[in-house]
Amino acid sequence: MSGTAPWWRSAVIYQIYIRSFADGNGDGVGDIAGIRSRLPYLKSLGVDAIWINPWYKSPMADHGYDVADFREIDPLFGTVAEAEELIEEAHRHGIRVIPDIVPNHTSDRHAWFQAALAAGPGSPERERYVFRPGRGPDGAEPPNDWVSCFGGPAWTRLPDGEWYLHLFAPEQPDLNWEHPEVRAEFESVLRFWFSRGVDGFRIDVAHGLIKHPELPDLPPRTEPAVLGPLSRREDAEERVRQHVDHPHWDRDEVHEIYRAWRKVADEFPGDRSFVAEAWADTPERLAAYVRRDGLHTAFNFDFLMASWDAKDLRAVIDDSLAMLGAVGAPATWVLSNHDVMRHVSRYGRRTVKRWLANERYEPEGPLDLELGIRRARAAALLMLALPGGAYVYQGEELGLPEVEDLPESVLQDPIWERSGHTDRGRDGCRVPIPWSGQSAPFGFSPEGASAAPWLPQPADWGERSVEAQTGDETSMLELYRRALRTRREHPALGDGTLAWLDTPAGVLALRREPGFVCVVNLSSEAYRLPDHTSVLLASGPVEDGLLAPDQAAWLAV
Ligand code: BGC
Repeated sequence: MSGTAPWWRSAVIYQIYIRSFADGNGDGVGDIAGIRSRLPYLKSLGVDAIWINPWYKSPMADHGYDVADFREIDPLFGTVAEAEELIEEAHRHGIRVIPDIVPNHTSDRHAWFQAALAAGPGSPERERYVFRPGRGPDGAEPPNDWVSCFGGPAWTRLPDGEWYLHLFAPEQPDLNWEHPEVRAEFESVLRFWFSRGVDGFRIDVAHGLIKHPELPDLPPRTEPAVLGPLSRREDAEERVRQHVDHPHWDRDEVHEIYRAWRKVADEFPGDRSFVAEAWADTPERLAAYVRRDGLHTAFNFDFLMASWDAKDLRAVIDDSLAMLGAVGAPATWVLSNHDVMRHVSRYGRRTVKRWLANERYEPEGPLDLELGIRRARAAALLMLALPGGAYVYQGEELGLPEVEDLPESVLQDPIWERSGHTDRGRDGCRVPIPWSGQSAPFGFSPEGASAAPWLPQPADWGERSVEAQTGDETSMLELYRRALRTRREHPALGDGTLAWLDTPAGVLALRREPGFVCVVNLSSEAYRLPDHTSVLLASGPVEDGLLAPDQAAWLAV
């Protein structure tokens, strides 16, 4: 890794789902005080930055993705002063801070939406959002057939007869990005936080801001999107993928917005950077977000959606590196986040399906936790050996599985209600993480907390806590710590390129210079490691130079 390359080309960024990371004030919900108390942990884990899910003032219809005021911190999480202190303390630990920004929509309690409701049809206040009359004789049908990502129609009718667009929950009205005040307001919000020291932003639904001016119906042959655009990867073997001209996802004009945002970031010293949550049909379309005058990086969800299969993973890695490399951007790699089933539980099934952006992942068959952990260990070594940056979702370093048996009575994700109780939603990957002790709240909340954690933690999570895993050389936590340390120290890792070594089907071996090889065995037979001078790190025991199935090793060669 070159010493002069900007940090974001190779950073390992730890995702903090603030509600569920650490609760400082004992109300059962994570907060800024909790994050501050755990900075030494993050430092010892060895991450370069934290991405914090939305912390702004919000009625919490979608746990903070419904923002009522972008310049205030929600009292549940703290204050702007505490956020400033957190940023400063994190910097003292050598950790950068990236909040989430949510430009596609606001909360229905945002002052702008409240003004739009009060002002009525045809008013300039309504032009900042997407209000339309309905179809049909008395306007009783929605203006078009768009669907909400959380289920049901993407339109809600007001008592005055007009409809407003919400690609997510009705409490999240979509903004009209053709309106100059919307553009100016977000640039001002970026400056507000940049001048408070944040190192960048994760951009929520970055591909959704621009809508087709005529708001036409969806193109034929498409199905409701869940989280992301409609992907047309018909044939996994041939990797045939085509871009669909979609009326509200990934429209070309969206890049103008990010060219302007880039200029704002560049006004500030110290390599501020953006990462786009952009779901694109093809790697080429994704690369369009990270051209030199646009955003810096984008999440690479293809890696997360690949099956546990050598050919599939290699194709995703090659496509990503080729397309992003062509525009001079680094790749990023991610296995889990707050919207998807945790990867221990995806991999812990006999069949790990390749998955499409327009689906929620439905696992097949019962969970084999031991298998899931074994593969997750190998996947971590693969991800952290690849050129570019990587994301670690809180709890992944503890090997946490998805909590698949949360009682229905505790489910909070709006998807549960909006889907008419057919989709349990995303709460299973958002359960508060265990820090210490043998019973709930497992150190998540302080002693004597006034409330239980906002989602119940499984009774056996004591054995997965940070305390239980610390110092246990066989634990997931110590594997992540060693991998991150090695990654920092080894000149071959981080930004750069890779070369594949010849291997039998089912085995991946990639070489990085100088002198580093990562081997991952996804086959069902043990594999003899290539010549090496030492094993730097392995996801499981390596005996007689043999790498067991579902294991990975880092070699010095
Ligand atoms: C976030 C989700 C959120 C949605 C609406 C996303 O893609 O990651 O958690 O529900 O945007 O803001």
